[in-house]
Amino acid sequence: MSLIDYIDQDRLPKHIAIIMDGNGRWATSKGFERGEGHKEGVRAISRAVEAASKASVQYLTLYAFSTENWNRPEDEVNGLMDLMVYAISEETEELKKNGVKITCIGDMTRLPEYARTALIKCIRETETGKCITLNIALSYSSKWELTEATRKITDDVLKGVLNKDDISEETISMYLTTSGIPDPDLLIRTGGEQRMSNFLLWQCAYAEFYFTEVYWPDFGEKDLYEAIIDYQGRERRFGKISEQIELNCFESKPDEEQ
Ligand code: IPE
Ligand code: IPE
Ligand code: MG
Repeated sequence: MSLIDYIDQDRLPKHIAIIMDGNGRWATSKGFERGEGHKEGVRAISRAVEAASKASVQYLTLYAFSTENWNRPEDEVNGLMDLMVYAISEETEELKKNGVKITCIGDMTRLPEYARTALIKCIRETETGKCITLNIALSYSSKWELTEATRKITDDVLKGVLNKDDISEETISMYLTTSGIPDPDLLIRTGGEQRMSNFLLWQCAYAEFYFTEVYWPDFGEKDLYEAIIDYQGRERRFGKISEQIELNCFESKPDEEQ
């Protein structure tokens, strides 16, 4: 039996989010430039998408570049942009063939024009993908997203489109860049750090966290399946107690209740 056979298809995480960390340390530990780590990291992305799709995960969100990452040395930022455009252009046909739908969250206005154009083309060409949605968080941070959402909500209240008293948790979710995508069930961070780094703070309110020492370029199918199996061994109580979960295991989550 291979590892995928140990995954319980009835308790799959619908949405997995990954903080892909450790590219630089992977490269340094091998005596390479940091850029080599980013290149190898792109290969790990292909493996993760293929493995997630094979396990029937519906949404995979990958943290590729944070708003804070704009503060890295200019050479590294430019290298990452070039790599992203190259990878997207190279992979679009393969993604289409494999039913992968690309979506993107983040502050696209900060991307160089050529990167934005390549990304929009890939999103358009893969929009009919039915197997898995690969959501790329690029120039993204949660605080940026929540600030933008607050502005849009305020605008709509002032325009009279939205009533202040009608603002609920669902309204806020609708104004986020992840609107329409279910919240992540499982958040994985590679590279050994145990922090959120400004990623999906609202959406991960009830996600299960899985931290691994493995550097992102070394992360493969086996690591993803180990994370899913670990997730399936946990009890998600959503504030309730164990006995209630056992009795009502097929009932809805609290946020889906009346
Ligand atoms: C993650 O790897 C990739 C990006 C943030 C773009 P890092 O580049 O952060 O790698 P480490 O953490 O320095 O090893
Ligand atoms: C988080 O990694 C961002 C991405 C993986 C894109 P960082 O390496 O930038 O995070 P910090 O700065 O160590 O928290
Ligand atoms: Mg890092």
